[in-house]
Amino acid sequence: MLGLLLKKQIAIISGPSSLAKSSNVAKAMNAEIVPTDLKIYSDGENRIRITKHIEGKNCVIIQSTYPPTDRHLLQALMLIKNCVDDRAANIIVVIPYMAYARQDKAFLEGEVVSMDLVAKLLEVCGTKQFITVDIHSRLALSYFTISAFDLSSIPLLANYSANMLKLDNNDLPLIVSPDYGGIRRAQDFSRILKTDMIALKKTRDRRTGQIFIDEKEMDPKLVKNRDAIIVDDIISTGGTIAEACKTLKKNGSGKVYAMCTHALLIGDSANKIKAAGIEEIIATNSVSNNEFAKVDVSPVICEALGTLIEDASSS
Ligand code: R5P
Repeated sequence: MLGLLLKKQIAIISGPSSLAKSSNVAKAMNAEIVPTDLKIYSDGENRIRITKHIEGKNCVIIQSTYPPTDRHLLQALMLIKNCVDDRAANIIVVIPYMAYARQDKAFLEGEVVSMDLVAKLLEVCGTKQFITVDIHSRLALSYFTISAFDLSSIPLLANYSANMLKLDNNDLPLIVSPDYGGIRRAQDFSRILKTDMIALKKTRDRRTGQIFIDEKEMDPKLVKNRDAIIVDDIISTGGTIAEACKTLKKNGSGKVYAMCTHALLIGDSANKIKAAGIEEIIATNSVSNNEFAKVDVSPVICEALGTLIEDASSS
């Protein structure tokens, strides 16, 4: 537990994209919350202000970078600069959904490795420690040279599924990763529920974005007459979940649920997913601007912050 003195030295700076999460974290840590004041001018420029002095404090900026991505990212950078200018003792930046993490390498010749650039921007502005949740890949995290921590929301999602989903009680659900890249997440999830998992073989056309699933690589016996939970890090256009669900349904599955950490759900993707046969979409509140944010990620953030701040004060 953090000592009373230590708590007085923590300022949770509530980024415009993450007001509820910031307040949950501040309450759980019994720390001071520092609101920000945002104005967006008619030309789209942001003006942001931290409403209290934070000199000498351990500042924790919480700002998720879901769409409008670049706006939220710039606001995070501005808040970091604010804290530097006001002589914060330490600046921990918490970005629950880390935008650009999927651009972790140059997929086509001539592409910028955007995640490398974003990590450099966060550092150069003054971030001392960085925390995110279920970042798309380890490679994305590797671009940070400061301490960077990737927290898992899988235990929170798995517990939610065990308590809240209306599953067929005769059989444990099958956990499905829609691609090989997500195997570790699905394994962790299935271990918690003490059930089995499969990973589908997915490919995406890099130019059109179209998703293909190779059914030949899937054992239909594992799927037939069983409820399934597709687990992914991000749902963006919904193409991945929709194709995965169609494949499971075609092979005789029972109900299919979609669970993810970051539900970006661009455009009409939620309808596309429902039309494919998904019962329900469940996500964390790393992206908090939609109705699917049912699982609060604050507990894992609080735990990580508690450890970081205690370590810093004892060293
Ligand atoms: C890809 O590797 C990710 O893990 C997600 O499967 C992907 O980002 C989902 O995107 P979409 O919803 O556009 O298919």
